[in-house]
Amino acid sequence: MKFFADTSDLDELKDLADLGLLDGVTTNPSIIAKSGKEFIPLIKEICDIAGGTPVSAEVAATDYETMRKEADVLRAIADNIAVKVPLTEAGIRTCKELSDEGTMVNVTLCFSPGQALLAAKAGAAFISPFVGRLDDISFQGLELIADIVTIYDNYPQYDTEVLVASVRNPMHIIESAKMGAQVMTAPPKVIKQLFNHPLTDKGLAAFVEDWAKTGQSIL
Ligand code: G3P
Repeated sequence: MKFFADTSDLDELKDLADLGLLDGVTTNPSIIAKSGKEFIPLIKEICDIAGGTPVSAEVAATDYETMRKEADVLRAIADNIAVKVPLTEAGIRTCKELSDEGTMVNVTLCFSPGQALLAAKAGAAFISPFVGRLDDISFQGLELIADIVTIYDNYPQYDTEVLVASVRNPMHIIESAKMGAQVMTAPPKVIKQLFNHPLTDKGLAAFVEDWAKTGQSIL
């Protein structure tokens, strides 16, 4: 499973890259607003850290004409840009055109298997189903992932990768990986939670204590 980081925080991205845990980056208008930084220069900096892996940069317009122009600006930033568009008619039309020209497109705000079919038919590189936001309204977000993986598996001609988004906890990652979703994007804090296990902490404390008793030093 590829790990994308759902953040524009440059220090967090560098940290994940150093750990070998950064396979791409996703942003959205809310993440950019939270950063307080200027969009295009920030995306350029993120592309440098991402080292050629996909960086999703989202259009702001909702009408096709403006969205299409914005998409052209975004894809010119770097070769590893995945233009992110909403799952609307304007978004799918933009996706189709960009994908036909070889640009990666990430179709976002997906909440149903039917929407995921539309993105695959438009040649999207990634479909982003939002598990956490479905959980928030008492639906089973992970069921959507299972449905999309099943449907895409039935049609090997679709190249679209399932990019599990709105990930809120390690179980979202683990269960999606068990289903075979190719990618997930999560805040770095959630990715780091995968390290945690009480038996690891307990075992390490015992090893440290026992090693001290030996009076030895490796260095
Ligand atoms: O980038 C899209 C998605 O990951 C947003 O997550 O937590 O705002 O629902 P969240």
